[in-house]
Amino acid sequence: MTVGILLVGGFGTRLLPLTNKTPKPMLPIANLPVTEHQLLAAKAAGITKVVLATAYLAETFTPYFGDGSKWGIELKYALETEPLGTGGAIRNAAELILSEISQDEPIVVFNGDVLSRHDLGAQIKLHQSSSAAVTLHLVNVEDARPYGCVPFDENGRVTDFLEKMENPITDSINAGCYVFSPQVIKEIALGKVVSVEREVFPQLLKSGKVVQAFVDNSYWLDMGTPKALLTGSQDYVGSREFIVGENSKISASAKIGGASAIGNNVTIEENVEIRSSIIRDGVTIAQGCKLENVFVEADTRVPEKTQASGAYLADGEIIPLKF
Ligand code: GTP
Repeated sequence: MTVGILLVGGFGTRLLPLTNKTPKPMLPIANLPVTEHQLLAAKAAGITKVVLATAYLAETFTPYFGDGSKWGIELKYALETEPLGTGGAIRNAAELILSEISQDEPIVVFNGDVLSRHDLGAQIKLHQSSSAAVTLHLVNVEDARPYGCVPFDENGRVTDFLEKMENPITDSINAGCYVFSPQVIKEIALGKVVSVEREVFPQLLKSGKVVQAFVDNSYWLDMGTPKALLTGSQDYVGSREFIVGENSKISASAKIGGASAIGNNVTIEENVEIRSSIIRDGVTIAQGCKLENVFVEADTRVPEKTQASGAYLADGEIIPLKF
């Protein structure tokens, strides 16, 4: 058995105002929360027990995911009263599973804002065969400047964790999915604010532990900005002009395209044009609106003939998004 921890408690400040009412991992990608895509990937790799490490807007997860049985997963919820950072969150969540697993059972940790189709099963196998303390999924990116980069040697052993820099020495970056040996998690201080990226991983290297690189350049997206969220949703809608949820009514004269995602209980009136957008549940878009690259908040009425591009729409507000 392999168990998982999903880190879903961050504030998601880069996604504001979209994260005012909805935590980043509950934002929809092709009509399903990011966390649901991750649970499906975890299940496909044989993970049947998962802890959601919640903090910010923690109460929004349980009504949707319940006990996880709908996904064939035993789901538990860990709560931080104050966000404990990535390392502190992992340690806190592990309290719910450490007593149930053996010393050599890997714990897979997912950053809750990543869409990835990498071979998780192969990452877990590499972790076991390399006797690593932790095995990190790395991806190569065209421009590593916005990220910290992670160099490794010819045996795939990570040699350093470098902060963002103008001239990165490698294009491999931390993709946000880690396989841990349980002992490493046990050694993180309980109840303290700790970062895995800035504290736990560098300390493992300092103390001579094996930190193994698993490079897999399959589809990967950090959906932490509005542009990335819209891109991710379009990627998952794929070659379809749009997808639509249940009980939605779309006028025959509406033109919808650009891999838009229309949620449940949505009404789209006459002569509306929508491209490359996310329309959440319960929205009404009145006649004659022209919308492109927009995110429409749940239960919003968009007044007739509204024109917007690259924006967040809610309660009569149109807020431009940074692209
Ligand atoms: P930004 O504020 O936009 O950077 O987003 P963020 O708050 O989500 O931070 P970041 O992208 O660095 O976080 C990576 C992942 O870890 C996300 O899935 C977060 O939800 C999660 N995360 C970050 N900090 C915490 C925390 O203190 N507790 C928990 N449970 N999860 C966290």
